[in-house]
Amino acid sequence: MKGLLLLCLLPLFGGQRSSACPHPCSCKGNQVNCSSMSLKSSSLPTSFPAGTTVLHLHNNLLTSLPNGILDDLASVHSVSLHGNPWVCDCGVLYLRAWLLRQPPALKSHVGVNCSSPPSLRGRLVVYLSEQGGPGLLPLLVL
Ligand SMILES: *[C@@H]1O[C@H](CO)[C@@H](O)[C@H](O)[C@H]1NC(C)=O
Ligand SMILES: *[C@@H]1O[C@H](CO)[C@@H](O)[C@H](O)[C@H]1NC(C)=O
Repeated sequence: MKGLLLLCLLPLFGGQRSSACPHPCSCKGNQVNCSSMSLKSSSLPTSFPAGTTVLHLHNNLLTSLPNGILDDLASVHSVSLHGNPWVCDCGVLYLRAWLLRQPPALKSHVGVNCSSPPSLRGRLVVYLSEQGGPGLLPLLVL
């Protein structure tokens, strides 16, 4: 189990960080708004300004978050991720790990649910289990 999980996380994120507002988002001070832009995981900016405090990513077409994309945002206190068709396979592990690190009071996990596979549709990503039982992450069963 542990070996598979590590393999899953291996491809590390290597984007360069710049302070410019990432295309096609709009920025106001340190608030970066990338919501409602039909962004797919492949068209998501590769990094966000280091000083970002609020990041809107909700209501897009994101199926996964690239590994590490939120890790260097030391000042971020709110990231909205609801309203995206998250695919709950191996690629969801970074998103799930990030959500688990957030203070529950921020409610970052609300509305962040799986759209596929069908057996996990509607399940909150943060509550997916890596172990057996219903809600099992498919990759980890292999
Ligand atoms: C963010 O951008 C979207 C799309 O342009 C817009 O509809 C929304 O009002 C913006 N939100 C904020 C908080 O600026
Ligand atoms: C799942 O997410 C969608 C889109 O954000 C939302 O409309 C729906 O209410 C959510 N379902 C659950 C069970 O949280």
